[in-house]
Amino acid sequence: MCTIPVFYATTHGQTRRIAERIAEALRREGHASFPLDLTSETARHFDWRRASAAVLSASLHTGRHQSSAVHFARTHVDRLNAIPTWFVSVSLSAASAHAEERSAAERLAREFVESVGWAPGRVSCVAGMLAYTRYSFVTRWFMRRIARKEGASTDTSRDHEFTDWSAVALLSRQFGREVWNRVQARGVRSREERWANDSRR
Ligand SMILES: Cc1cc2nc3c(=O)[nH]c(=O)nc-3n(C[C@H](O)[C@H](O)[C@H](O)COP(=O)(O)O)c2cc1C
Repeated sequence: MCTIPVFYATTHGQTRRIAERIAEALRREGHASFPLDLTSETARHFDWRRASAAVLSASLHTGRHQSSAVHFARTHVDRLNAIPTWFVSVSLSAASAHAEERSAAERLAREFVESVGWAPGRVSCVAGMLAYTRYSFVTRWFMRRIARKEGASTDTSRDHEFTDWSAVALLSRQFGREVWNRVQARGVRSREERWANDSRR
């Protein structure tokens, strides 16, 4: 069993729900996985010796991911680059009907990892939520204007979820299996190295 923390930064809660779903899917694959809020003490004091792999998820707000995610990735980049990792970027652009919006989300996700020197094995853009009921008056007004421009719902009496939960589960399963393969390959390599060392003695 591999320990795979799913670190997340969220502003209105959707990335937390996605991180919870990823951890749940990874547990189904036989791993020990749990979501960890980047602003929590548990995430700050996480013992990296426990992690066989890691997931970092964050959401886009006015073209940027949360600064807590940038800080976290920058601080732990050597550890992240030493194990299998997956960056999950949550946004509304990922759900856009316009190809250029979806490409912009992919570019921002790539720029995030490049800017901190991280080379995750996987980068995914996942659609989030238009959470009108959780916004302040000004944010609701701002998001309604963007929604109108994008052709999304302007009904602010409720939230509008775009997350494709089955895609999240599928991507998580693929990552979980990849981690198993990597761990098994490492096990075979270290057994072979032990045999080679023994036969030299
Ligand atoms: C003020 C604000 C700015 C946003 N800016 C962007 C943006 O630049 N690009 C984008 O694709 N989505 C943007 N979004 C949508 C969020 O990424 C989306 O709602 C996501 O689900 C938020 O996740 P969270 O609830 O974990 O914070 C914005 C949302 C808000 C409220």
